[in-house]
Amino acid sequence: MAIPQEVIAEIKYRNDIESVISQYVVLKRRGKNLIGLCPFHNEKTPSFTIYPENGSFYCFGCKVGGDVLTFTGLIEHLDYVESIKYLADKCGVVIPEDSGNDNSLQRLKQTILEINRESARFFHKVLMSDSGKWARDYLLGRGLSLATIRKFGLGCAPDNWDSLLKHLTGLGYSIGDMLQANVISKSSKGSYFDRFRNRVMFPIINLRGNVIAFSGRARPGDEKAGGKYVNTSDTPVYKKSENLYGFNFAKNTCADRVILVEGNMDVISLHQAGFTNTVAALGTSFTIEQAKLLSRYTNEIVITLDSDTAGQNAVKKALSILKDSGMPIRVLVLPDGKDPDEFIKKNSADKFRALIEGAESDIEYKLRTASQGLDLSSDDGKLKYLKAAAAILADTGDDLTIDLYAGKLAERYNLSKNAVDSAIKRIREENAKKRRQAEIKEVEAPRFDKTEINPEKRFNKRAAVAEETIISVLMAHPDFFTKVEEVLPPERFITALNRRIYGDIYAALKEGDNIEISLFGAKYTPAELGYIVSLQSGVKAERNPGTLLSDSIEVLKQESMKNSSDGEDEADWIDRMQQILKQKKGDNDDGK
Ligand code: UTP
Ligand code: MN
Repeated sequence: MAIPQEVIAEIKYRNDIESVISQYVVLKRRGKNLIGLCPFHNEKTPSFTIYPENGSFYCFGCKVGGDVLTFTGLIEHLDYVESIKYLADKCGVVIPEDSGNDNSLQRLKQTILEINRESARFFHKVLMSDSGKWARDYLLGRGLSLATIRKFGLGCAPDNWDSLLKHLTGLGYSIGDMLQANVISKSSKGSYFDRFRNRVMFPIINLRGNVIAFSGRARPGDEKAGGKYVNTSDTPVYKKSENLYGFNFAKNTCADRVILVEGNMDVISLHQAGFTNTVAALGTSFTIEQAKLLSRYTNEIVITLDSDTAGQNAVKKALSILKDSGMPIRVLVLPDGKDPDEFIKKNSADKFRALIEGAESDIEYKLRTASQGLDLSSDDGKLKYLKAAAAILADTGDDLTIDLYAGKLAERYNLSKNAVDSAIKRIREENAKKRRQAEIKEVEAPRFDKTEINPEKRFNKRAAVAEETIISVLMAHPDFFTKVEEVLPPERFITALNRRIYGDIYAALKEGDNIEISLFGAKYTPAELGYIVSLQSGVKAERNPGTLLSDSIEVLKQESMKNSSDGEDEADWIDRMQQILKQKKGDNDDGK
């Protein structure tokens, strides 16, 4: 049962592409269109284009495209039906019941979420029972209140190989679904067992309040046996690089500032102490996806990772990932090499708050730590430091910040401001050059690496280009349909993808429908939709569309004739053409 077209149209009408995309991407107007940095690949100059007129987008760098639903699906990692529901929720459109639920991936995800919820309940019950006393004592001993334990839904995995397995089986869940949820594992001998055993359990909860994964901490003293933490691997409902621990609570309180810490326990301690804007990366180094997620909810990030070497290296990595986020970033290195959880217990929430308020900016942090290990009393050390400092400033986006700190450096080391300025300028120029070179590579890479959109084009470029032109012209000038309707049925198209696209256009125009990108909807991949958008926006204005059309039809005819022998039935020709294409493809594959 599909969602009715008119409901989809209503949802799209209320979520216009420009305002939806601008919630994720900073857009600049460029004529009728808007451009910005593509959220789907890394780039420094914008090649991500929005065509409000057509309700479509296209990235010239990575070549994805589509409409507002495609965009939502890609950026929120939703399938087509989920994207429709997501946007429907946002604008208050109600989707008629019973529609759109017949998707098997959707069903699997639903089942995994149920299994996770049941597992979390199970672990929590165990925690509150006799067999979980050790874990309860441990958590209370670490200063958590029962209310906090309940709020975070903490639990305990029994010291047993199949407690959860039995419990879930009793509830009717299949082994296959439990494996997909990653709550059980399969041994090399083929038997199944609980993934989490004898651990304190931290459910990971997404923004909609669903349990999407678990992190299990070893029972104290048992850390060596199976690793200090065991985490859920990525599943259909969970990608650790795209989630943050505690964000389900922090999302409501982090508009001004978010505190980024390292561990689950840090998050929980800080929340309990009133810092409900705290989150942690989930057992990985901080990722671009997490940075993007945060930047949509907050205006400032304070990073306070463990002050050991590993923690400080993680700070540097996080800073480089956050560099282009456009948000102010500050860093707090806690005294005495403690993590926030330990600090707040030894000191007080007020003391922690004061440190957060006074945390140094990312630049200050970088400039300060760059001097570590250098002897600033020697000329040599001073020079090394100044070079490092110039490089740090050169890497900063904001001219005023650069000027401010260049001035400070010059004053402090008794140099002329000019000398510092020109050192920074030189490094900036070098960086810009390197970036340009990297970008050229980046733009070229997808063009050759990605699977070809229309591989048949290789075997008949002339025909494919003519087909592309016909599609382009018809999308821009649907009134020319009368010119092609009789002479050019879709079967006449030679390459399969173009034939498919033209077939959809042909059918729509015959019905008197408009050609817009949503017409192609879920039937095409984002890469294919990107191709369609590029055709849609690619009509050459300088030429008369009528002439373009008739020239291209002529080319298609010639190309058909080339491959058909005299007197052969026209209908046979398509088959023969397919044969030839297949052969050629085969030859080509063999030759590889
Ligand atoms: P820590 O070792 O600092 O743990 O790892 P912690 O949270 O402070 O734990 P306590 O205070 O000793 O109980 C920081 C985070 O790194 C991830 C976990 O998310 C942990 O919270 N981690 C650590 C893993 O995923 N696997 C590991 O083996 C260790
Ligand atoms: Mn800790």
